[in-house]
Amino acid sequence: MKVIVGNEKEISQLIADEFVKVVKAKPTAVLGLATGTSPLMVYADMAKAYKDGEVSYKDCKSFNLDEYVGLEGTHDQSYRYFMTENLFKHIDIKLENTHVLLGVGDYKAYMNQYDKEIDEAGGIDIQILGIGSDGHIAFNEPGTPFDSLTHETELTEQTIKDNSRLFNDISEVPTRAVTMGLASIMKAKKIVLIATGKNKAKAVYGLIKGPITEDMPCSILQKHPDCTVYVDEEAYSLVK
Ligand code: GLP
Repeated sequence: MKVIVGNEKEISQLIADEFVKVVKAKPTAVLGLATGTSPLMVYADMAKAYKDGEVSYKDCKSFNLDEYVGLEGTHDQSYRYFMTENLFKHIDIKLENTHVLLGVGDYKAYMNQYDKEIDEAGGIDIQILGIGSDGHIAFNEPGTPFDSLTHETELTEQTIKDNSRLFNDISEVPTRAVTMGLASIMKAKKIVLIATGKNKAKAVYGLIKGPITEDMPCSILQKHPDCTVYVDEEAYSLVK
């Protein structure tokens, strides 16, 4: 596991550069995408690279990590909506090649075929991850088995509290989600994780220094052959 420390602007640009590098080398690359506030600047930089004519994503496919159960893709807190607003509509990826888990309707059927669809697309070439303050990645909360594939899960109180800042009221935060599993994520050929702010310091310690345990889901990344962690000083403070 490699660790790179810098301010949010610097590390976001470095991650966007990694995506651009992968897509330039393989225009049909399969991109693993994440939501949350952490990747926002990365997506802006990826869009800028497209607008500047440096890269085209027109032959790429994408798979997102997770979605809230109960939210339509048109809901402004759904992850489908987030991706459209913050990345897809700013680049030339074809919408039919973007995959986000469903949170309504026959979402379980889609969830059950998600890993197979990723495999059939050739697997994820580069996966971006954020991290929850409790050490979750995607929505794999503490206690999730390391061999998990895409599944439905209950969110912890901590995650509901953390994510309530984006809703009008905590009572509106969904309590369940569908998420790629830890084994699904570990299959990605290359992983980049971004963490900023003091609120992430404990999780980042577990990620880099902690024992590999299902109580700290992100710790499994220590076993990935090509994982780089991008952190700011605050998120890195306990490791230092
Ligand atoms: C959610 C998402 C995660 C994300 C985490 C941190 O729980 N499911 O994928 O990493 O939030 O979000 P933020 O980047 O906003 O701190």
